[in-house]
Amino acid sequence: MSEAAPFRILVLPGDGIGREVIPAAQRVLEATGLPFEFSTGEMGWECFEKNGNSLPDETLELAKTVDAVLFGAVSSPSHPVQGYRSPIVAMRRALQLYANIRPVTSINDPEIDLVVVRENTEGLYAGRERLEDDGDTAIAERVITRQASARIVRKAYELARERAAERGENGRQPHVTIVHKANVLRVSDGLYRGVALEVAKEFPDVATSEMLVDNAALQLVQNPERFDVIVTTNLFGDILSDVASYWGGGLGLAASANFGTSQALFEPVHGSAPDIAGKGIANPLAAIGCAALLLEYIGRPSEGKPAELLAAARNWSERINAAIEQVLRSDLQTPDLGGSATTDDITNAVLAILQ
Ligand code: NAI
Ligand code: MG
Repeated sequence: MSEAAPFRILVLPGDGIGREVIPAAQRVLEATGLPFEFSTGEMGWECFEKNGNSLPDETLELAKTVDAVLFGAVSSPSHPVQGYRSPIVAMRRALQLYANIRPVTSINDPEIDLVVVRENTEGLYAGRERLEDDGDTAIAERVITRQASARIVRKAYELARERAAERGENGRQPHVTIVHKANVLRVSDGLYRGVALEVAKEFPDVATSEMLVDNAALQLVQNPERFDVIVTTNLFGDILSDVASYWGGGLGLAASANFGTSQALFEPVHGSAPDIAGKGIANPLAAIGCAALLLEYIGRPSEGKPAELLAAARNWSERINAAIEQVLRSDLQTPDLGGSATTDDITNAVLAILQ
């Protein structure tokens, strides 16, 4: 197995707790004994302060060539800073990582197993914001295109099918909820909704509903079991996935994948958490969950790698998810879950289970 070309992984810790939880995830990847070749890159606020650039070309170029990227979090100021751009938003667009997949599973009742599929390249995060000359009016353009809408919705339906296949014959039927606000944003979300309903027709085996985003937020709190796959535009998906993460144990547990046509990037849903950064108490399970998602991805059937190596990667993905669940059911918890364990305690507990 060691003779196979290694899986090349770019590690981008970023800022704040990204530098604490990503090394934990890397330790877990290393513990698998699979052939990895890690490289590290810089990006984020501290990188900007040092180099005047939040996303150096070097980092972006590396990201284009590796098998997968493991990203932590970046700090972004909530006011305009000359020359600063959010590097993760920029990277998603530069690599055309158009689908942000954010799964949530509950370990207790109610039984929740849903995934938010968020469009990642346009919408209100298209970066088209400006201040009018009077200085008193700010305008943000919300970009919705047929092409980006169709590809994200198609991704959601394909995922719904895959998930149903994994559940097997006795499992729940696949169901996609198309979330929008087309009753108010009649032009932009009107286009998104129209395209989504067209794509839905290609998947007659998958049930379809549509829901306005404000109601979707309520339903995620009141009736989360009803959801299977939610597909929505960029900002709505960002917000709804934080809401949904509550059921999986909160932000300390929420892992996500960003998929494009060729590249893939794995990142916790959470940010740099400046309130706890540097204290060694960040919950590493979201980042470790990203390691599991990464292994599932690199273990997918593909040419050029021995089938047994790919199977081993998929198997490690399952083992890591099982270890996360086992730790969650134990008394050992970080402060976000009411305990007093450290990042290292949790990481060591996961590693001990895996050994
Ligand atoms: P946040 O996700 O960093 O933190 C929200 C709350 O959750 C905080 O109380 C934090 O302590 C807690 N939390 C988050 N992750 C945790 C973990 N692994 N373990 C324990 N507790 C955890 O979001 P916030 O505070 O709104 O933003 C902070 C910074 O992060 C901002 O600069 C923001 O721009 C950035 N951010 C970056 C993201 C990214 O890089 N993808 C995503 C969201 C925010
Ligand atoms: Mg977010």
